[in-house]
This record gives sequence, structure tokens and C-alpha cells, in this order.
Amino acid sequence: MIVCTVLVYKGCIMFTLIETKPVAEAHYLLTLHSDTTESYPGQFINIKVNSSTDPLIRRPFSIFDHNGTTMHIVIRVVGKGTEKIVAMHPGLIDCIGPCGKGFSIVTGKKALLVGGGVGNAPLYYLARMLCRAHTEVTYIYGARSASSIFLLDSYRELSHTCIVTTDDGSSGIKGNPVDAARDIAAKNEFDIVYTCGPEIMMKHLSQELSHIPVEASLERYFGCGVGLCSGCAVKTSTGYKRACIDGPVFDARTVLWDTP
Ligand SMILES: Cc1cc2nc3c(=O)[nH]c(=O)nc-3n(C[C@H](O)[C@H](O)[C@H](O)COP(=O)(O)OP(=O)(O)OC[C@H]3O[C@@H](n4cnc5c(N)ncnc54)[C@H](O)[C@@H]3O)c2cc1C
Ligand code: FES
Repeated sequence: MIVCTVLVYKGCIMFTLIETKPVAEAHYLLTLHSDTTESYPGQFINIKVNSSTDPLIRRPFSIFDHNGTTMHIVIRVVGKGTEKIVAMHPGLIDCIGPCGKGFSIVTGKKALLVGGGVGNAPLYYLARMLCRAHTEVTYIYGARSASSIFLLDSYRELSHTCIVTTDDGSSGIKGNPVDAARDIAAKNEFDIVYTCGPEIMMKHLSQELSHIPVEASLERYFGCGVGLCSGCAVKTSTGYKRACIDGPVFDARTVLWDTP
């Protein structure tokens, strides 16, 4: 029997790059025009770097914000693909999305959002949607140092409380966002925690706050990005899942973390 898989995207495959501007050291905000107006916080878009085969594989980026047909992503330059994307000229780009399963939006609750590094990116759109749903947002913005913090005022505008932590103490509290989250959760009651950042941070956060539901956006190397190669496997209590289509957002209580 021949099984034919037809992949249907609700989103679009051509986006127009409007502008790229630096927002922190090695971090860029890209403004895109997309035909689709529908997306969910936590979803990502998958960008083809160029028309050649180097690099061959598309690069995934979370949606930082989406309003009407205007979409934003934040890119931290780490290698060849990201270097090329931030150097692209305005115009049409080959990009698939929005893809994946995003965060759930709770209404009229108290939410704690904990971001680490560029993992703060999808939490901005989430914070905006939570505020629209009358959920109070407490935000913990973790970064390595002050120079890598992007668009902090935008996060502050949406947050009831916004706490910054840096590894080197160059801004906010010196330390990691997990300790800050534990301290604030000891003094306040939260209905839900949302997180995105280094896996080790999300693992410790979900263990420290195991009495609260935690939704975590996981990062994996994506091959196909559409559920076909299993390159993005995530070990969970109900078997292996694919981060690109079953996630990237997972109930942290079901994740069997790879990190020590
Ligand atoms: C669902 C999802 C959402 C993401 N959202 C964002 C975002 O909003 N902003 C952003 O800047 N980045 C995001 N990323 C990461 C981004 O896709 C990678 O940084 C990018 O693909 C690297 O491409 P490159 O060619 O520049 O780096 P490469 O040359 O491929 O690699 C450079 C370095 O980065 C590491 N690296 C590359 N990709 C990954 C990965 N997926 N996981 C862990 N380490 C990696 C490599 O080990 C290497 O050390 C996301 C990834 C996923 C899976
Ligand atoms: S990247 Fe191929 S299945 Fe997820």
C-alpha cells in the first residue's frame, strides 16, 4: 500500500522582509509582512536561508509578535544561517509558517513567564495575548548580561511585575531566572507558568515549581520541520514526540529531560 502524506499549511510560504534592525548585541528584530493574520504564541516560522544548498536546511524562529499581517521575529546570530538571514535585503523570502503547537492562553488568571536569552522572544507575543485575555503577567527576563537584553521596555509595558536577572549582574539581579521564579512563587500564587530558554533552565524551573502547571517551549535541531524525519525527537512520559509538530510547546510535567 502506498501511503501519501499531504502536508497542508494553514499559514503561508512567502513572506516579505520589510526591515531588519539591531536590538541588542548580536540580536536583530526582523519585521515581516505575511499574508496570514492567524498564529498562536509559541508557533514558529521556518526560513530558507538562500537559494543555494548551503545551508540546506531551513532555520526555525519563534514568532516574537504578530498583529494583522505584520509579524516580528528576533534572531540571535550564532552561525552561518543566522548571519545570512540578518544580512538579507528587504523583499520576498521563502518561509513556511506559522508552524507547530503554541502555548495555551488562560483567561482571567495569574501567569508567571520565565525567559532565558533569546528564549524570551516567543514570550512577548504570549504576554500580549495573556493581557488581552485579562490574565495578569509576572515576567522574569533572564539574560547572560545587559548587552544581550532586547526590547525590555516592551516586556515591562505588559507586565504587572517584571524582574531582570543576569548571570554577570550587569543588569537587575545577579543570578539565574529559576531562583528568581522560585522566590516570587513563594510569595505569590500563580495559576500557570510559561517558559522558553535553555533546556537546563526549563528543567530546573519545572522541578522547582512542580506544584504549578508549566508549559515549556523546547528547542531541537530541526531537519524537515514538518514531522517527517523524527530529527527533533522529545522524550516524554507518553513516548517520543516531534518538537516541530507535536510542540515546540509541551506540558513540562510530561517531558523526560535530556539535560543532567
Ligand atoms: C522551535 C524553535 C524556535 C526557535 N526560535 C528562535 C528565535 O526566536 N530566535 C533565535 O535566534 N533562535 C531561535 N531558534 C534557534 C535557531 O533556529 C538556531 O539558532 C538557528 O537555526 C541556528 O542557525 P545557524 O545556521 O546560524 O547556526 P549553526 O551554524 O547551525 O549553529 C551554530 C551554533 O548554534 C547551535 N545551534 C544551532 N541550532 C540549534 C538548535 N536548534 N538548538 C540548539 N543549538 C543550536 C549549534 O550547535 C552551534 O553551536 C529556535 C529554534 C527552534 C527549534
Ligand atoms: S524536524 Fe523532522 S520530524 Fe521534526
